[in-house]
Amino acid sequence: MLHNPKNSKQVYVKSFGCQMNVYDSERMIESLIPLGYKATLKEDDADLIILNTCHIREKATEKIYSEVGRLKPIKQKNPNLKIIVAGCVAQAEGEEIIRRQPMVDILVGPQSYHKLPELLTHSNSKHVVLDLDQTGKFDWPNRGVGNTQKISSFLTVQEGCDKFCTFCVVPYTRGQEYSRPVAEVVMEAHELVAGGAREIILLGQNVNAYHGLGKDNRSWSLADLIWRLSEIPELDRIRFVTSHPNEMTQDLMVAFRDCPKLMPYLHLPIQSGSDKILKLMNRKHTQAEYVEIISQLKSYRPDIAISGDFIVGFPGETEEDFQETLKIVQTIGFIKSFSFKYSPRPGTPAAERERVEPAIQAERLTKLQDLLSEYQFAVQKSSIGKTCRVLFEKEGRFEGQLVGKNEHFQVVYGELPKEFIGRVGDMKIKDANINTLHGELV
Ligand code: SAH
Ligand code: SF4
Ligand code: F3S
Repeated sequence: MLHNPKNSKQVYVKSFGCQMNVYDSERMIESLIPLGYKATLKEDDADLIILNTCHIREKATEKIYSEVGRLKPIKQKNPNLKIIVAGCVAQAEGEEIIRRQPMVDILVGPQSYHKLPELLTHSNSKHVVLDLDQTGKFDWPNRGVGNTQKISSFLTVQEGCDKFCTFCVVPYTRGQEYSRPVAEVVMEAHELVAGGAREIILLGQNVNAYHGLGKDNRSWSLADLIWRLSEIPELDRIRFVTSHPNEMTQDLMVAFRDCPKLMPYLHLPIQSGSDKILKLMNRKHTQAEYVEIISQLKSYRPDIAISGDFIVGFPGETEEDFQETLKIVQTIGFIKSFSFKYSPRPGTPAAERERVEPAIQAERLTKLQDLLSEYQFAVQKSSIGKTCRVLFEKEGRFEGQLVGKNEHFQVVYGELPKEFIGRVGDMKIKDANINTLHGELV
């Protein structure tokens, strides 16, 4: 992946959790190139192993201890191997990790990993760096060379969260909401495009709350930023994730209507259909308000596809509350969804509350997922016979096959020559299963 012949040391990075961790992992690799590292996909060959961890749900910490334990034979073979625990578990657990697992050399939080090169040059002692101040984090050499997904690239524009939903650890692990300045984002977008990106997915924990400083000293909204990025000629597509319903401003809805590069797909988590539960979650909107946002959005962009996140068995959730969640699925008809059993996170307000029995949680999750799959499959099947525009990203599983995504972020396979990688083609859909579509070039 990286080709500096002088690079003789190998770094293996394993990412857990959200897309932002994937982005961060790539940036860590880039920041280590000047120290003589190159990325490897084989942990056995590594001189440095970084576990970039996620704390969002159950057993995250235990998983990391067992991951580190698993590295023991590699460490025995290579006593110089360094092990770093980065990301949200490092931030949440702190020094306890090194106390319990002395094989770990360095702990860095999600806002401190830019200090890795410095920490590694003083590498004979243990380091714990968990500052939550983002200053300097987005400043690194070799930007973009570590990207694993070239055609569709992630670009972090906003980090952290001030919303404090009562179930969520993100405000504690990622810190306060912070938006990168417009000029910095635009520069990085140009670099990504020069490196081959044709789609950019803007990342943020609350990406639609973006309010970065523009050159005009004004605070730019996400819509302003999208319009600016759409001026980059070789960039075909723009998306963003994850949005909060309370930040769906009108200028963003207008952008969905008027900006041809902004794709008609929005991931807008609702978590629960019950107003009582939404309140207990501190989501600050009702089911009706969510439905209204989607209906407004559809008045601007009728073909927009909506995906969502759900939590079942939140403390206090009754059967009636759960029925409301099923109802919202029927009302909206999500194109794709992620659903989870509520998982108590240490230090969050909901963790103190009385739990819903695990058996009931499991039963509700199955019911919800069955319904979500039914709707998802119906959407997938309704694509058959229609033509969509697919940006091809890479080769598919079989010889002669390419895979990419259509406007609605559905995965589409087709038999095409490799030259189509990085290009958009019109595909007539011939076949559909729950997660993928198969089409022919028109
Ligand atoms: N910022 C986004 C979500 C970030 S976390 C938003 O506001 O919606 C990604 C998803 O993980 C959440 O949408 C939620 O569905 C799930 N999640 C977060 N904390 C959880 C917990 N304690 N238990 C179960 N699921 C959780
Ligand atoms: Fe977590 Fe999202 Fe709520 Fe922020 S808005 S606390 S990231 S669920
Ligand atoms: Fe996980 Fe941290 Fe992302 S907890 S979901 S890696 S912000």
